[in-house]
Amino acid sequence: MSRRDRDMSARLAPNKAPAAAALPQDLAWAGQSVELLKELHILTREGRLNQDSRRKLKQVDHLVHFIEQLIADIRPYDGALTLADHGAGKSYLGFVLHDRLWPGSGDGAGGVIYGIETRPELVTRSRDLAARLGFAHMRFLNIAAADAAQEQGLPARIDLVTALHACDTATDDAIAFGLAKQAQAMALVPCCQAEVAACLRQSKALQLARTPLAELWRHPLHTREIGSQLTNVLRCLYLESQGYQVTVTELVGWEHSLKNELILARQTGHYKHTAGARLRALLAQFGLQGLLPVRYPQLLKEGAVGVAG
Ligand SMILES: C[S@@+](CC[C@H](N)C(=O)[O-])C[C@H]1O[C@@H](n2cnc3c(N)ncnc32)[C@H](O)[C@@H]1O
Repeated sequence: MSRRDRDMSARLAPNKAPAAAALPQDLAWAGQSVELLKELHILTREGRLNQDSRRKLKQVDHLVHFIEQLIADIRPYDGALTLADHGAGKSYLGFVLHDRLWPGSGDGAGGVIYGIETRPELVTRSRDLAARLGFAHMRFLNIAAADAAQEQGLPARIDLVTALHACDTATDDAIAFGLAKQAQAMALVPCCQAEVAACLRQSKALQLARTPLAELWRHPLHTREIGSQLTNVLRCLYLESQGYQVTVTELVGWEHSLKNELILARQTGHYKHTAGARLRALLAQFGLQGLLPVRYPQLLKEGAVGVAG
């Protein structure tokens, strides 16, 4: 048992079961606490892993790996890292990050991970678990991502924004939050996306008459797929237009998740005006101009590119 697991076991007094099974060889969870993974119900009490849990663990572990690279370049605004995770769910990501960033619970050190989640029972569960584990750097807010920027309990600036499979437009809300909070970096793995597909569907007949490009979304399955693809392309352009350098990559192998696109954004302060212009051109091409004030409001501000056109 590693020192970390011994520390964890000591904090988990009622759980006297030995951390029996080692994690599978193909999972590189160096230093990851077996006891924490049991508490999160990723591992069974016997230390076993089912297929679903294995998938989730892979996703979280890979994302943590990318996030650690982002953190290495961050100079926290308030001296210690602040991170807001949107659509936190059971907060796997938050707990694993806490365990990595503040091994041994981190009492006395600064820094906070905020979990933003609409389902109250998940918030309660996460609060209880954090209290039981003595994870001192976690706060959980039972609010929608769209309301998070106005939430009094959050600091004016946040270093890092994450969203792992936050449903539908919650990823857009996380981006809006990140911009409002001047996030130094964002790590976003979008989930299912319905908004753009719904808009495409509405104007399908008109678009089919107007442009052969509309063949790309004539069939319902294609409407959904291109809607999802377009959504992420627009998100990337928006981030670039707002002073971020963007990288798009796979989170894990496609066999582990269909929702596998990872958007990494690093604040550079270089506002790419061509990206804003491209975004607006794409909205016009696809008949999606109605989304401009809703999802890309910064482009409507005075001096933004293409406001007149
Ligand atoms: C697919 S789960 C992902 C949970 C977690 N991030 C993970 O990967 O294990 C999506 C979570 O986002 C939450 N959610 C959906 N819409 C939200 C919103 N607008 N604001 C905050 N949370 C939201 C859901 O309740 C759910 O717990």
